[in-house]
Amino acid sequence: MAWVFPLLAVAPGHAQAPPGFQQRCAVCHQATGSGVPGTYPPLNDTLGAYARVPQGRTFLIHLLLFGMDGAIKSHGAIYEGLMPPAADLSDSDLAEAINYVLRTLNAATLPSDFKPFTAREFETARASGLTATDVFREREKLIAALDKRASANSGSR
Ligand code: HEC
Repeated sequence: MAWVFPLLAVAPGHAQAPPGFQQRCAVCHQATGSGVPGTYPPLNDTLGAYARVPQGRTFLIHLLLFGMDGAIKSHGAIYEGLMPPAADLSDSDLAEAINYVLRTLNAATLPSDFKPFTAREFETARASGLTATDVFREREKLIAALDKRASANSGSR
């Protein structure tokens, strides 16, 4: 007896999203990472710069493990929501989800020497026991550091 299995459709040139992203991120940030204006910030073409500095990597790990609470600005718009932690996902699911967000949704701004996140990085960070507000403050410091870098590079100020 012959069985025919339907093939999963994968958009050409687009890596398929890992299960962690599909199940736990897309519900708010949408499958394309576009977000929902005024409610959930976009994840596409906004995060590449975070991968350029060590504190940006640490922020992303803490964000997934501990969530974030506080008003943030993205592409000029304000988002005041609460992002819940995704710490119940395994370390490797978390690493896969953030690697997908960076490599697929932020390919244009990702540094060429980007090193994929590892499950071990998540495992180690779990013990830090931060709050969602701590993570919000971490983002504020990160954005200030990136702004400073950008103005230093452009020679202004
Ligand atoms: C229940 C909805 C929800 C889910 C589920 C969710 N997020 Fe979020 N996310 C948010 C909100 C709301 C914010 C903004 C939080 C704030 O204002 O402090 C945010 C912020 C972010 C940011 C920061 C964006 C920036 O510009 O700095 C990233 C990155 C992110 N989320 C990634 C993810 C990933 C990856 C997942 C899956 C593991 C995920 N989110 C799951 C709602 C969600």
